[in-house]
Amino acid sequence: MRNFVNLVQTAIFLIFIACEIQSELNLRPVLGIITQKTSEVFEPLVPYNSTYIASSYVKFLEMAGAEVVPIISTWHKKRIERVIRKVNGVLLPGGAAPFNESSYWDASVIAYKVAVELNDKGVYYPLFGICLGFETLHEIIAEENSTSFFDSENLTIPLNFTQMAYKSRLFKDMSKELMQSLLFDNITLNMHKMGVSTKTFQNNEKLKRMFQVLSTNLDRDGREFISTVEGIKYPFYGTQWHPEKNIFEWTPFQAINHGPTAVKVTQHFANFFVNEARRNKNKFASEEELESLLIMNYKLIWGAGVSAFGQIYIFQDETFLKIKKNKNLKKINSRIDNK
Ligand SMILES: *[C@@H]1O[C@H](CO)[C@@H](O)[C@H](O)[C@H]1NC(C)=O
Ligand SMILES: *[C@@H]1O[C@H](CO)[C@@H](O)[C@H](O)[C@H]1NC(C)=O
Ligand SMILES: *[C@@H]1O[C@H](CO)[C@@H](O)[C@H](O)[C@H]1NC(C)=O
Ligand SMILES: *[C@@H]1O[C@H](CO)[C@@H](O)[C@H](O)[C@H]1NC(C)=O
Ligand SMILES: *[C@@H]1O[C@H](CO)[C@@H](O)[C@H](O)[C@H]1NC(C)=O
Ligand SMILES: *[C@@H]1O[C@H](CO)[C@@H](O)[C@H](O)[C@H]1NC(C)=O
Repeated sequence: MRNFVNLVQTAIFLIFIACEIQSELNLRPVLGIITQKTSEVFEPLVPYNSTYIASSYVKFLEMAGAEVVPIISTWHKKRIERVIRKVNGVLLPGGAAPFNESSYWDASVIAYKVAVELNDKGVYYPLFGICLGFETLHEIIAEENSTSFFDSENLTIPLNFTQMAYKSRLFKDMSKELMQSLLFDNITLNMHKMGVSTKTFQNNEKLKRMFQVLSTNLDRDGREFISTVEGIKYPFYGTQWHPEKNIFEWTPFQAINHGPTAVKVTQHFANFFVNEARRNKNKFASEEELESLLIMNYKLIWGAGVSAFGQIYIFQDETFLKIKKNKNLKKINSRIDNK
């Protein structure tokens, strides 16, 4: 009888703990996405010196239950840092911004530093880098040029998992069927000219200390690059390939797999990352403050025939807008306002 009572007490205690853990999740995760300068291809669509986010990255997070706040890389660095400290994690998206000497790079460095600092203080703060974001994280962590050229644009291939993948946080809850598809089917689209070679990775102590390699791939010339990583100590993740495109991008010029399995892979990654963000409890000062920063404040532009992304969010450089008010810009702006 005594034992039974103990057992019941223990059970109640465990249920209590489980509920506590449940209720400690942040059920309104807000993720930051770093913007980058628009390239020339956007010029007919956007005012000079704008930055953008492809809407696929926004939808990718929203579909898993997160709200999105753009980290506008042309903001003053102090403002960038303030906002990064309020969101529950940051996504570094793909694109074509140069690694260094770009506002995207500068904002990424701030996000990385804040994430390391908070995690070191015991505050769970996840990062996820995709394609350019993956490369940028590696460049920042390696503290040297860690990328080289690959022939890997428009290349949709299976992942070559390492042993570590099966025990990783990213993949351990993935179904066997989905793992098998990733292993054998052409699900992951690579769309990059630069990458991190296995050799570069293995030769850099900082990268090896930071990341566990979960998959590698070969480019068209048979050169091996790192394709999926997760932080050993930190909740930092990276894919050189594009999970977001499988559901949200439709350009016929990229071999994007839109099949049901590829869609599930995308959903797995989105759910995984947003769940990581639910473990962070950073908060905005008020509902008003959050609402004033949400992506909902910004215009979506349909970039058909111009941008492979389809839809993009555009962020005008506020300092530029203040100085410059020429007619041409007004015309362009009114065109955007009318969209
Ligand atoms: C940035 O990259 C270019 C090459 O793309 C290089 O010439 C330049 O020195 C780099 N600048 C810094 C600050 O690392
Ligand atoms: C990094 O190295 C590659 C060659 O391995 C070179 O093409 C690239 O310009 C370098 N980048 C920088 C920023 O120096
Ligand atoms: C994957 O794509 C390659 C061409 O890049 C093709 O040879 C191969 O058959 C495809 N594999 C599957 C399982 O569809
Ligand atoms: C997969 O990775 C293993 C271990 O690094 C390597 O030996 C093999 O050649 C790779 N295969 C492919 C297709 O990338
Ligand atoms: C990318 O690959 C797809 C499928 O193989 C092809 O239809 C498309 O033309 C390719 N895009 C480019 C830019 O070569
Ligand atoms: C565009 O932005 C760059 C810095 O990113 C700045 O040096 C330049 O003056 C800006 N151009 C205009 C027209 O405001």
